[in-house]
Amino acid sequence: MQTQYFHVNKDKPDTSILAQAAVIIKQGGLVAFPTETVYGLAANGLDERAVSGIYQAKGRPSDNPLILHIADYCELAKLASSIPLNAKVLIEKFWPGPLTIVLKRTQAIPNIVTGGLDTVAIRMPDSTVARELIRLSGVPLAAPSANTSGRPSPTTAEAVLADLAGKIGAVIDAGPSNIGVESTVVDCTTPVPTLLRPGGVTLEMLIEVLGDIEIDPALGCENTVPKSPGMKYAHYAPNAPMYLLEGENSSQIDRLQREIKHHAVQGKKIGAIVSSETARLLPDNVLAADYGSRTSLEQVAANLYSALRKFDTDPVDIIFAEGVAETGLGLAVMNRLRKASAYRIIKV
Ligand code: TXA
Ligand code: MG
Repeated sequence: MQTQYFHVNKDKPDTSILAQAAVIIKQGGLVAFPTETVYGLAANGLDERAVSGIYQAKGRPSDNPLILHIADYCELAKLASSIPLNAKVLIEKFWPGPLTIVLKRTQAIPNIVTGGLDTVAIRMPDSTVARELIRLSGVPLAAPSANTSGRPSPTTAEAVLADLAGKIGAVIDAGPSNIGVESTVVDCTTPVPTLLRPGGVTLEMLIEVLGDIEIDPALGCENTVPKSPGMKYAHYAPNAPMYLLEGENSSQIDRLQREIKHHAVQGKKIGAIVSSETARLLPDNVLAADYGSRTSLEQVAANLYSALRKFDTDPVDIIFAEGVAETGLGLAVMNRLRKASAYRIIKV
């Protein structure tokens, strides 16, 4: 399959170009499109066959449900059977934006979208291009991140094509995604809403609005390390084994310098996913993927996935990553770095 390439302006997209992409969706095809978080891979969310194409193109396990993306509030009533007060409050405050809400589903949604669950994840993206594409398609768009399953999410059209060229109908390029990590997922079917995935809307922002929120224990965001690290947890993973440093920053840098010396004498090619500040301290034999200044977690989030993908084109034998503080977007960044490292964590 030849993957068509469309380029549009992020803020004022050419409607006639987006209409061509919408035709592909209406015909049951797949279109990768930009959102403010990461690039998504869209299909008509009400068409079972179209949605099965997403799982096929990504190599995604069929029990991992998809998010439905909407552009108008009136779509919600068709997809969710009830909208509790907490969900209304979150929608009012954070839509359109990087927040996905899990609600009880209606029968309008094919089982393949929800992985057989009785709930559905819904989000209204802030990206103009994304919302225009949804409107022109005339249906909710089922869309996971547009990467091969297990690989880092794409934040550029180039990264989408690196994984999915020839497997999808088209990609719409509107430049790099602003936020760089996926949406926050909150389950609103529990008595107290539950954070299932940290993302673009921070935990602090949620607490301010909700007062109370539970955190899914499986997140490991309270410094719990899963007992059996392994394939089950490998996710967002670069192509070489990765070790994540956690702890006070100067101790991380000391340890990084020692690890570099130790592995360099063994003749290994070393990659380091680090802040700009740390990149400047590294010896020349280390290949650095710079995720920006550690004083700006926004910058770190925006650069994270391209840093994780850097070693695809510049292969190394081993990767070390510098951890950041778990405040604000740092919670999402550390969640992704831990998964990318398959929980090979070095606490200092
Ligand atoms: O920012 C984003 O959310 C991006 C863009 C494209 O919108 N999408 C994205 O989709 O990250 P995906 O499929 O890579 O991640 C969706 C997450 C998965 O962890 C999935 O298990 C969870 O949402 N999810 C989907 N439906 C669910 C449901 N009914 N209950 C619980 N979790 C659900
Ligand atoms: Mg994903």
